[in-house]
Amino acid sequence: MNLAIVGVTGMVGRVILNLLEEKNIYINKLYPVASNKSIGKKMFFRKKKYKILSIEEVISLKPDIAIFSAGAEISKKWAIKFTNRGTILIDNSSAWRMDKYKKLIVPEINGNIIKKKDKIIANPNCSTIQLVIVLHPLSKKYQIKRIVISTYQSVTGSGKKGLDQLINEENFINFKKNYCFKINRNAIPHCEIFDRYGYSKEELKLINETKKIFNDKNIRITATSVRIPVVGGHSESVNLTFKNDFDINDLRNILSNTNGLILMDNIKNNIYPMPILCEGNDNVFVGRIRRDMSKTKSLNMWIVSDNLRKGSATNAVQILEYLIHNKFVK
Ligand SMILES: NC(=O)c1ccc[n+]([C@@H]2O[C@H](COP(=O)([O-])OP(=O)(O)OC[C@H]3O[C@@H](n4cnc5c(N)ncnc54)[C@H](OP(=O)(O)O)[C@@H]3O)[C@@H](O)[C@H]2O)c1
Repeated sequence: MNLAIVGVTGMVGRVILNLLEEKNIYINKLYPVASNKSIGKKMFFRKKKYKILSIEEVISLKPDIAIFSAGAEISKKWAIKFTNRGTILIDNSSAWRMDKYKKLIVPEINGNIIKKKDKIIANPNCSTIQLVIVLHPLSKKYQIKRIVISTYQSVTGSGKKGLDQLINEENFINFKKNYCFKINRNAIPHCEIFDRYGYSKEELKLINETKKIFNDKNIRITATSVRIPVVGGHSESVNLTFKNDFDINDLRNILSNTNGLILMDNIKNNIYPMPILCEGNDNVFVGRIRRDMSKTKSLNMWIVSDNLRKGSATNAVQILEYLIHNKFVK
């Protein structure tokens, strides 16, 4: 398999390279792609030296697969040019997620809907992936009626620029800001642009992508997304209301037996998920599970996952593995 990684020098691109190494995925030729400022620079993969290429050069090399991780504008501009030459695209940006002809995939949940004819496969947003991994086994048993989510999102979710702002502020270096405000020692309830109803783009991604992945337009979902000065993962406070009542021990059992999910829930011993515990891990972590005393059939929980692993790179690489496993690619 010949593989292009567009955005190879970015936060997600670098983790994709690490994962390909860790998982020892066979790659015949690797085509690393980045912006003009990186073209021609050298990088290493599996101890071999590579030159970073331009996107134009790589199209003509007709890679079997291209993982796009360079933002929605780049994906919209170039995706079709790749697929027209036979390349299958796994896209990390928001460009195709809500396109009704493109599939939005979390392999553990709906990998089985990928078909050979799918040429662009969309990877969901980081905060959506960790949410649906926890909700999916519960929705099967209890049926979800309503979800209220508040996120506490890492600066790495905004790419290199977000991390640079935090590091510069911590070191008192004056630098162009990525966020409207100082992020160090702050919490900014503003992730990407607002729509006319006052919701941020990040909040709408959570709402719309969750409905698409569950193939259920009737789930009632509302969200508030907040950027905090954390590196290592996104956290989510989630209030869930089910159609059916639940036994909390049964519910915990379901979660602890779900692939890709770690139950970390023992308050007597101060055990609950936190970004410092989850960084670099491919799993989603859940804890602080307790009944909502104000409402029947409802509960509260706390979900944490490394947005650069399962929230983006790991999920994309799992899609790649699914394509290889099902022989959709050489
Ligand atoms: N960070 C997350 O947690 C996360 C989670 C889910 C999805 N995503 C999505 O993944 C994508 C990448 O995010 P990131 O956090 O890795 O961003 P990032 O750190 O800012 O990296 C962006 C990458 O895109 C490359 N790039 C920029 N313009 C390009 C162009 N014209 N042609 C080719 N490459 C270009 C950059 O190359 P240079 O180094 O040369 O500038 C860099 O490699 C975005 O679509 C983002 O929404 C990110």
